[in-house]
Amino acid sequence: MKKNIQNTDNSAPIGVFDSGIGGTSIWNEINTLLPNENSIYLADSKYAPYGTRSREEIIALSEKNTVLLLEKGCKIIVVACNTATTNAIQYLRNKYDVPFIGIEPAIKPAYLKTVSKTVGILATKGTLSSALFQETSNLYKEGIEILEQEGTGIVELIEQGKLNSEEMMALLRQYTLPMVEKGMDHLVLGCSHYPYLIPNLKKLLPPSIKIIDSGFAVAKQTEAILNKKKLLNQNMYRGSHQFYTNGSIDFLQLILQSQYNVTALDF
Ligand code: DGL
Repeated sequence: MKKNIQNTDNSAPIGVFDSGIGGTSIWNEINTLLPNENSIYLADSKYAPYGTRSREEIIALSEKNTVLLLEKGCKIIVVACNTATTNAIQYLRNKYDVPFIGIEPAIKPAYLKTVSKTVGILATKGTLSSALFQETSNLYKEGIEILEQEGTGIVELIEQGKLNSEEMMALLRQYTLPMVEKGMDHLVLGCSHYPYLIPNLKKLLPPSIKIIDSGFAVAKQTEAILNKKKLLNQNMYRGSHQFYTNGSIDFLQLILQSQYNVTALDF
């Protein structure tokens, strides 16, 4: 039996969670597309990175975040983390009767547009090793080469506020340049922390390489599902937003450019 806890009040917040601050890249896309929606964001930084954890741990952490967002009255849950989506969303959908929106590496647009027939994917170990990712990847393997690269250490550096450090640049060079040598013309960012690296990636990669992330697609899907369920907020005012972190308030505030208040919460 699914737990029926759907909040049908269309002014209820959109709940968003990630293993840390990276999912704010998705939250930004949602807020830009749906500016009058209210939202609650959970940064589970204390348990980051998820990408090196077992599937069971990722499911348990994702459920903990979901339950908290549902207790706070959210009408929909956006799993703004590729690792949590590819490992836990099926479990969550089976157990909780609320709409869940997930994020997965955007292989399809890269597959459709690649000219060199070589596509690179940078994602966590947890995402690349998941059955869901492998299933999707198999759909697009015909006629193209998909280069998979684990982004070991990147999430940790972002969570420590070292987005533009020399350490970060060294990791990005190490992970992406071999894929360039193998002929990659599209780089798919398969982790919601990585869009914050786009300016740095652009400095390293030849300008002909297209960088693809899934943020806008997730926002569109959130809009479509809210619309279908008649849950879009009818309010004409800008939404209000609550950010909670069990990690560093400073780094979350930095990434939000100090535009929103962040509350410390032990969850
Ligand atoms: N933002 C998460 C993702 O999209 C990061 C995963 C991690 O914590 O390792 O996969």
